[in-house]
Amino acid sequence: MDEPIVLQGLTKDYGKGFRAVDSLDLVVRSNSFVGFLGPNGAGKTTTIKMLTNLLTVTAGKAYLNGVDVAADAKRALGGVGAVVETPEFYQFLTPNETLEYLGELRGMAKPEIRRRSKEVLETVKMTDWATTRIGKFSKGMKQRVALAQALLHEPSIVILDEPTSGLDPRGMVEVRDVLKELKKQKYTVFMSSHLLNEVQEVCTDVAMIDHGRLLAYDSVGALLSKIDSKKLEVRIANRVMPEAMDQLRRHEGVQMLNIVNERQFFIDFIGDEERQAQLLLRLQELGYRVVSFRESGVALENLYMSLIKSSR
Ligand SMILES: Nc1ncnc2c1ncn2[C@@H]1O[C@H](COP(=O)(O)OP(=O)(O)OP(=O)(O)O)[C@@H](O)[C@H]1O
Ligand SMILES: [Mg+2]
Repeated sequence: MDEPIVLQGLTKDYGKGFRAVDSLDLVVRSNSFVGFLGPNGAGKTTTIKMLTNLLTVTAGKAYLNGVDVAADAKRALGGVGAVVETPEFYQFLTPNETLEYLGELRGMAKPEIRRRSKEVLETVKMTDWATTRIGKFSKGMKQRVALAQALLHEPSIVILDEPTSGLDPRGMVEVRDVLKELKKQKYTVFMSSHLLNEVQEVCTDVAMIDHGRLLAYDSVGALLSKIDSKKLEVRIANRVMPEAMDQLRRHEGVQMLNIVNERQFFIDFIGDEERQAQLLLRLQELGYRVVSFRESGVALENLYMSLIKSSR
């Protein structure tokens, strides 16, 4: 029970007969960055709201740093920073003033607030905007202020519900940079998302849910190594050769070849990492001077789609 986040049979019914979260069991280890992945309506927000005591549980337990959230929410959430719904800030206050006000509400001492404000604004890359009114900020900048306030009291756990949703591409990149910064620091992060590329980019672990049920929970590396069907993009310095392509079609695991131009083709391939390494050697044996050999698209996607399909 020393783990930062533990869910035991966590369940939520909305009204009679509709189970939005169904007996979730999950143990989040210290310093991991968990992507809580699922399609719309999967139960991500409901789970996060139970974790942060914004919703009561129907059954089961949620523990934060070993403390039962339902039994002692104040203590359980003391070490938690969360951004669940994008908070509405006072438009006429600056980030510095906002953090001061929130720090006081949380009972922090003035020098402590000043020290932490500086640190967290650096973490979210808003130092240059510390004294500008929030009313002037883009959505992405407001989201970074939201992250800063969540970090203010030095929590060990950070819980985020779709932190990049509703942002334009630039805003997304900026917030993702902050997420990567959190990953470098000592936080344990639990973040919901429905974006596979985002999860693959920033998370160490992935918990996939659909219809309120946990479908998979493992490290990103372990999940990726389970995926054995992929599309490989090959770029070569010489030219596509018909005989070599015929040989390649017969190579183990090769499902289909798709020639884009004389220096680039795609291989639909089924095989583990060892087989994939052998395929690269084979390409070279066949006379190709390989410039690049890479998995195209989001590798997690196949696994995600197959798990979701089988859960419906
Ligand atoms: N207050 C509520 N009353 C009744 N049903 C609700 C309520 N809130 C959510 N639901 C339903 O519970 C299910 C889970 O919703 P939830 O918001 O947790 O999903 P989500 O994974 O966060 O989805 P999204 O990706 O759209 O944010 C959905 O079918 C939703 O319609
Ligand atoms: Mg949601």
